[in-house]
Amino acid sequence: MKSEDHSDLPHHRHRIHQKRLVALAFKKYSKPVAYLILLLLAYALGYASHSQPRLSQAARDLLDHNNFLAQCSSPVPPAHVRQTILNRVFNGTSPWENFPPDHVKNLLLPDWKKGWGSHGAVFENLIRRVRPKTIIEVGSFLGASATHMAELTRKLGLETQIICIDDFRGWPGYYDNGKSLKLVNGDSMLLYQFMKNVVNVRASESIMFLPFSAGTALVGLCDWGFTVTWSGGVLFGHDYFLDVDNYGVRRAVDLFARLNGFRVEIDGEHWVLA
Ligand SMILES: *[C@@H]1O[C@H](CO)[C@@H](O)[C@H](O)[C@H]1NC(C)=O
Repeated sequence: MKSEDHSDLPHHRHRIHQKRLVALAFKKYSKPVAYLILLLLAYALGYASHSQPRLSQAARDLLDHNNFLAQCSSPVPPAHVRQTILNRVFNGTSPWENFPPDHVKNLLLPDWKKGWGSHGAVFENLIRRVRPKTIIEVGSFLGASATHMAELTRKLGLETQIICIDDFRGWPGYYDNGKSLKLVNGDSMLLYQFMKNVVNVRASESIMFLPFSAGTALVGLCDWGFTVTWSGGVLFGHDYFLDVDNYGVRRAVDLFARLNGFRVEIDGEHWVLA
C-alpha cells in the first residue's frame, strides 16, 4: 500500500492526513439542491471554517446562514474507513454478502449503466495526481463513475475505498417503462442494480455505499470522523458548463470557491477545487 501519510513532517506529526477525492454528481439535482449539497458538503468536510475573504452583505448572510456549529469527530484513519461504515450502517455485516437475494436475482439487468460524464479524463488525472486513499462520491446512481474510479485505482495499484452516497431512488417520475427495471412494490431497485454493476467489475471490496440522501449521509460521515483537511483533499464535480438553471452548478461552485478563497480549475466538463 502506498503511504500518503505525512506524519513524518514535524508540523504534521500529530495529524492524520488522508488524501481524499470528493466527486459530486449534480445533474439530476435542481439548482437549490445543488447549492444545498455543496454547502452541506462544506459543512460536513469542515471547509466552511476557512478564513473569510471580504464579502458582500448577501454573501455574508449566506455564509452566516450556513455557519454550522457542529464539529466533525476526529479523523478516522483510512485503514478503518470501510469497517467504520460496515459497523455504523450495516451492523457489522457486509451488504455484499449473499448478494443478490433470491427475490431480485432474475429481475436485475445483466449490465445496465447510465451516467453523466462518468468517463471524463478528470478521474484519471486526479487519481494519478492525488493517489487518494478515500474517495467520497455524492450522487452515484448506477455506479458508472464509481466503477470507473475503482478500475483506475486498481490499475494504478492503489488501495482506495470509494464511498458512494445516493438514495438510489433516481428522482420523482424517474421510472421509465422502456429501460428501467420492473418496480417491486414501488421500489425501482436502483440500489440492487448499482450493487450488481459493482459486482460485475469485481469492485465490491473497494466500493462501499451509504444508501441515504446526501444531507443525511454527510452528517453521518461528519459524526464518524470523515473530515478532509484541505491540504490533502480535492473536490470536483461535473456539469460546470451545463446551461440548465442558468448555469446553476457553475454559479454554486463559483460561489463556494469565492466564499472560501479557492480557485476553480476546469478539466473537460468538470470543475476542480484543489
Ligand atoms: C446486529 O448484529 C448482532 C450481532 O451479530 C445481532 O445479534 C443483531 O440481531 C443484529 N441486528 C440487526 C438489526 O440485524
